[in-house]
Amino acid sequence: MVLKVIGIAGSLRTGSYNRGLLRAAKALAPDGMEIEIAEIASFPLFNEDVEAKGTPPDVLELKQRIAAADALLIATPEYNHSVPGVLKNAIDWLSREPDMPLEGKPTAIMGASTGMIGTARSQMHLRIVALAVNMPVLLQPEVYVAVAQKKFDEHGELIDKPTRERVKALLAALMDWTLVLKRGRAGA
Ligand code: FNR
Repeated sequence: MVLKVIGIAGSLRTGSYNRGLLRAAKALAPDGMEIEIAEIASFPLFNEDVEAKGTPPDVLELKQRIAAADALLIATPEYNHSVPGVLKNAIDWLSREPDMPLEGKPTAIMGASTGMIGTARSQMHLRIVALAVNMPVLLQPEVYVAVAQKKFDEHGELIDKPTRERVKALLAALMDWTLVLKRGRAGA
């Protein structure tokens, strides 16, 4: 069995370190895990009036992909000590009834920033948002990529070896935990 993981980056920047972190995770995924990177750039700003006219097709599509996946992997930047608006906006769309694919979906988070504490504050805020949508977040290991400009090359690829090892450890833990949850839910 291959675990399917959907990766979401909380940055729309072309050269995003967080997107680079997701690409690294895709390449470093253990045997038995496949990571697909999803896009949230086309999501409109959440507005209940827009929602009343129908969920936008790209939101619906990602909801279906998340529902069909075994786990989520979110790479978040830190904007003004918190989660960037685009990521929160995407979570707000994905959290809406009737289909709520974030509920119960095992999720690992990581993040890269150019600052000294590597998204520690935004990851903590993301954990609080996860409580609201009942999205269980893996506790440890934590992956904080500080001073990201020194850890990625000029093509935006993650070259820092200790960080690559931490990403691998995160994915291994996500895989173990997701399998435990799946077995538990199957009553095995
Ligand atoms: C930032 N940045 C930033 N970094 C940080 O460590 N703590 C912070 O609070 C902030 N605040 C912040 C606000 C805004 C509006 C911007 C645009 C940027 C810097 C941020 O870490 C840097 O731009 C990263 O490169 C963003 O991630 P991506 O786009 O490379 O994935």
